[in-house]
Amino acid sequence: MSDTVRIIGVTEDSFDTKTFEFQWDERASPGQFIMVWMPGMEEIPMSLSKTDRIKSITVKNIGADTHKLHSLGIGDPIRIRGPYGKGFDIKKGARMLIVGGGVGIAAVIPVVKETGADTIIGAKTEKEIIMDDVAGKYSKNLWISTDDGSRGYMGNAVQLMREKAAEKEYDVVLACGPEVMLYHLYNACTELDIDCQFSLERHMKCGVGVCGSCMMDDVRICKDGPVLNREQISKLKDFGTSKMDECGRRVNLG
Ligand SMILES: Cc1cc2nc3c(=O)[nH]c(=O)nc-3n(C[C@H](O)[C@H](O)[C@H](O)COP(=O)(O)OP(=O)(O)OC[C@H]3O[C@@H](n4cnc5c(N)ncnc54)[C@H](O)[C@@H]3O)c2cc1C
Ligand code: FES
Repeated sequence: MSDTVRIIGVTEDSFDTKTFEFQWDERASPGQFIMVWMPGMEEIPMSLSKTDRIKSITVKNIGADTHKLHSLGIGDPIRIRGPYGKGFDIKKGARMLIVGGGVGIAAVIPVVKETGADTIIGAKTEKEIIMDDVAGKYSKNLWISTDDGSRGYMGNAVQLMREKAAEKEYDVVLACGPEVMLYHLYNACTELDIDCQFSLERHMKCGVGVCGSCMMDDVRICKDGPVLNREQISKLKDFGTSKMDECGRRVNLG
């Protein structure tokens, strides 16, 4: 079952990323995603970047379908279904560090708002940083890294996480971002013996655990995830190494 909702707000987060707000009364928790469709595009998964009654998706324009979504304006309808998957397990009193890489910050920003936890936003350059205003407002400490040093720490988000974890004790790292970032972050968490919960991405068609297109080993990312904990991730041979493309062919991650 899908619902039709109308866009009530559009924000340009950066040169290639926009946030679309809509009112939708379904209950959703941070880390869950929806399937989004409109005529002329394939249905695609998007994390919820706002999870209250007013919800939002934050879309990076990288191909035909996200391009189509970028053409939306206030009043335009979209069809959505969900919310799907398991979100972040936010434990009261846990000392949390939140890490968002690129557009991945969109999936963790509801946790930043709910907990006020320390946050790292990592991006390639200053141009790609999004949601630093919201993160700065809610998080106790916000640190920014850029690969080229155009803003904040010069280096990647994992290097910065290692520095922060040496200065301060954390129980758990919550993150979303490119898999290469998550892979190195997982290694850092294992080495430093910090628990972690990461939001993972695989090609999704049904979104509800039926079609098998999002499998990582024997885990359905749409239903058992997208947020998995350190123990679950430790069993995934595909993590950081390979994935299935839209035709179900196995491809190596570069
Ligand atoms: C659980 C989940 C949450 C996501 N949240 C966000 C988000 O908040 N913001 C955002 O910008 N992007 C998000 N994505 C990625 C987003 O779905 C893809 O960027 C989008 O589908 C690309 O479609 P396209 O036609 O524009 O690009 P294409 O050129 O068709 O694809 C570009 C790349 O996007 C990925 N992709 C394409 N179709 C799918 C699909 N059906 N399922 C998964 N990945 C796909 C593939 O890696 C592909 O190589 C999320 C993906 C998942 C699985
Ligand atoms: S997308 Fe169909 S099983 Fe996950």
